[in-house]
Amino acid sequence: MTKGKVDALLGIVFGDEGKGKVVDFFTPRYDAVARYAGGPNAGHTILFEGKKFVLRSIPSGIFCENTQNFIGNGCVIAPDLFMKEARELEAAGYDPAKRIHISMRAHLILPTHRVLDLAYEAAKGKNKVGTTGKGIGPTYSDKAARIGLRVGDILENFTEKYAALKARHEQILRDLNYTNYDLAETEREWFEGVEYMKRCHLCNTETELNRLLAEGKNILAEGAQGSLLDIDHGTYPFVSSSSTTIGGVCTGLGVAPRDIGRVFGIFKAYSTRVGAGPFPVELFDTVGDEIRRIGHEYGAVTGRNRRCGWLDLVALNYAITINGVSDLVLMKNDVLDTFDTIKVCTAYTKDGVTTTDMPYDTAGWQPIYEELPGWKTPLTDIRQEEYFPERFKNYINYIETHTNTPIHIVSVGPDREATILR
Ligand code: IMP
Repeated sequence: MTKGKVDALLGIVFGDEGKGKVVDFFTPRYDAVARYAGGPNAGHTILFEGKKFVLRSIPSGIFCENTQNFIGNGCVIAPDLFMKEARELEAAGYDPAKRIHISMRAHLILPTHRVLDLAYEAAKGKNKVGTTGKGIGPTYSDKAARIGLRVGDILENFTEKYAALKARHEQILRDLNYTNYDLAETEREWFEGVEYMKRCHLCNTETELNRLLAEGKNILAEGAQGSLLDIDHGTYPFVSSSSTTIGGVCTGLGVAPRDIGRVFGIFKAYSTRVGAGPFPVELFDTVGDEIRRIGHEYGAVTGRNRRCGWLDLVALNYAITINGVSDLVLMKNDVLDTFDTIKVCTAYTKDGVTTTDMPYDTAGWQPIYEELPGWKTPLTDIRQEEYFPERFKNYINYIETHTNTPIHIVSVGPDREATILR
């Protein structure tokens, strides 16, 4: 029997590219969908049949009856938030507890991890990262420090293990003089969430996933955040704390590199970033405001304004290389329908030096733009490529030529149907 493959769908810029919609569109073709990194800092929005769902930790395959769903060892999970998310799905008629496999090796986000996240940010003053406040950084820090608690821990002597780590965190909080927090209510929900999680299939997900591959089944690895938020390859220290890029698929699921198939790199027709950190293409004028307004560019998790700018080919090409992207997925093109001119950043310049390579630190680099004419036509109702306006076709060709990578999917609106396969 031919072995199955793991295809990956990765956000390749700063996250928020619309992965939820595309994973949902892809899932019927896969036997399983697996999250490999991150936690409730993600917010994957899915719209269909007039309903809107925002998934944080739960894989997007949950809406597809025959798809198995996995939360891999590379993820971090907050039991209370997980339970809340699952109950929203229950209310809509789904039964997530029965359909989710959670890695016993995934790390738990404790209530005190969230307090630590806020305390560390407050202590950083103007250098703060602008985290989502979900405890992501402190949880991955404890994982690396080998003191974290894992999902498997909830099955034995958990109360003592929990109390020991909590005490350690409270000591740090006292040292930081951060005492303005109350855990009572959160802890109650958190422990309720722990009980809820026990109804899911807690297992060695790497064993299950490799068994599926051996049976010839195909898996979709659902990325979270974006390549430029990767702990190694992102704009450190303004990054998340996990490996969001392709390497994270292997370490975060326990699958081998030779089992990786296609790598879909998802990006928008323009750029956004939420949180602090350098962003050379950021627009501070009314054009940026218009992109934000038309594109509804407000954080799915935090509600914060997303910073907006034109497409950045330096960043895009860097991410394509790091991830070995085989196919591009171009989202939210309809947001640019009304613009007379569309700019694309082709290089960065600083102190008389020009580069198309990603600098060590992008702070202070200025974008060099090429201008293309806008298509000035509504795209949202178009379902076949041949009906695209010529100027939009030119935009697509321009990106393909400058990235040397085919654009496999073009999205022209939020609905499932507004997705054109090429
Ligand atoms: P953290 O992941 O909460 O630690 O946040 C670190 C940085 O990553 C902050 O700038 C966040 O705004 C950003 N970030 C985290 N998750 C996402 C996401 O899913 N989409 C976009 N930005 C994110």
